[in-house]
Amino acid sequence: MTKICCIGAGYVGGPTMAMIAKKCPEIQVTVVDINEQRIAAWLSDHLPIYEPGLAEVVKEALGRNLFFSTEVDRAIEEADIIFVSVNTPTKTFGEGAGCAADLQYWELCARRIRAISTTNKIIVEKSTLPVRTAEAMERVLHSGDNPVHFEVLSNPEFLAEGTAIADLEDPDRVLIGGHDTPSGQAAVRKLVDIYATWLPREKILTTNVWSSELSKLTANAFLAQRVSSINAISALCEATEADVTEVANAIGKDRRIGSKFLRASIGFGGSCFKKDILNLVYICETYGLQEAADYWRQVVLLNDYQEARFVKKMLKEMFNTISGKRIAIFGFAFKANTGDTRESPAIRVCRALAAERAKLVVTDPQAIDNAKLELPELLGEIEFEEDPYKAAEGAHAIALLTEWPEYKELDYEKIYASMDKPAFIFDGRNLLDHKKLFDIGFEVYSIGKELRSHLK
Ligand code: UDX
Ligand code: ADP
Repeated sequence: MTKICCIGAGYVGGPTMAMIAKKCPEIQVTVVDINEQRIAAWLSDHLPIYEPGLAEVVKEALGRNLFFSTEVDRAIEEADIIFVSVNTPTKTFGEGAGCAADLQYWELCARRIRAISTTNKIIVEKSTLPVRTAEAMERVLHSGDNPVHFEVLSNPEFLAEGTAIADLEDPDRVLIGGHDTPSGQAAVRKLVDIYATWLPREKILTTNVWSSELSKLTANAFLAQRVSSINAISALCEATEADVTEVANAIGKDRRIGSKFLRASIGFGGSCFKKDILNLVYICETYGLQEAADYWRQVVLLNDYQEARFVKKMLKEMFNTISGKRIAIFGFAFKANTGDTRESPAIRVCRALAAERAKLVVTDPQAIDNAKLELPELLGEIEFEEDPYKAAEGAHAIALLTEWPEYKELDYEKIYASMDKPAFIFDGRNLLDHKKLFDIGFEVYSIGKELRSHLK
């Protein structure tokens, strides 16, 4: 029986391993983490992450061939294949601070694997990592006198949060990078066979290790760049009489451009985009490619600009003062259908509004607990409220920051009646029916569209 161990039971490791266990009942999959609470949560009825459809997948395999444990060493020793899905945040110190990936968790894993292993193993990079990490890891794994052979593969994860289960079930492609050596190719075949249990082989791409690593960063950079591109156009739309949704629709019909990922917004968030682009920037700079680095950095700068522009607009439209005004924040997650708040634009927007002394009340269907962790310095000042109607009661404004579909279905007449007047809505996701809101009486500001105001 093939035994898989996955180190890191987070947003990537948990769902991915649950899917492999579901699809391959003959493989034993053990997910380990040093975080005891997280492991306990995976074993409980309240999974540590909210992801539609995940609970069913976990339930099907849990205890059969899917296990969660804190016994990291044992799982490493028993495994034939070890996936490493630990966090790789942006470095906050030293060389490359603010840009390069902090590989301390990864390296600790490599050292542990080296210390524990007594049989040959395939090590799979699942975390997003800078190009050539595999090389560094191979050096760590093969240093010392342990005769065990480690074959390192890159198998980046392309799942998006909120749709992780569908993305794992039917991905556009699976990418596996391995070395062009007999043992490298044998390891690649072994991993291909696992994915081929449920995916057509033509969807499984094999490349060299570096191409695979770089493809992950490039995919995220391109996706983020599309968001920044349409957001740059949204600023222009607001200055002219163009409507960004109409522009996105018109350009998206061009099959070379495509219609997806052209939703103008307050900006992208999530644990990947910013981190991966900054990583790319750092790598370009390391190789002396300053212009290429600057090009990609601009994608992040534009994202910062979009967030700042949103706050400025709120301030300006609300008569240049929001001090003491109650503002309801609809949605704190970085996107809909997840409780994840990492790098969510809501963090910066709330901080900026709080700095203007607004009284914030945050509501979100899944992310309130995480929101509290993101804003420790404001805990005494911000109110958290599960019910959006209560959040909006007595508010001067609603700032919609996450495109939760349920926000579309709310009774805005009722909300309007309960708010202070003039009642503003700032729709940072262009989710709502702006004409209808305007007809109810709201002052409506959206992204890249005309301002609908009764005051002018
Ligand atoms: C992303 C990649 O899509 C995924 O392939 C990779 O594995 C991890 O990073 P994720 O961060 O989960 O996934 O979410 P994604 O759907 O890509 O959205 C990222 C951010 O961009 C969100 O804040 C989202 O709201 C924003 N976005 C996305 C827009 O503002 N407009 C769009 O048109 C699309
Ligand atoms: P991602 O979104 O990439 O999955 P997460 O932060 O959600 O990132 O998950 C990474 C997990 O890896 C965390 O639960 C963390 O506790 C775990 N982790 C980090 N270092 C180690 C380690 N050395 N051994 C085991 N687990 C680790």
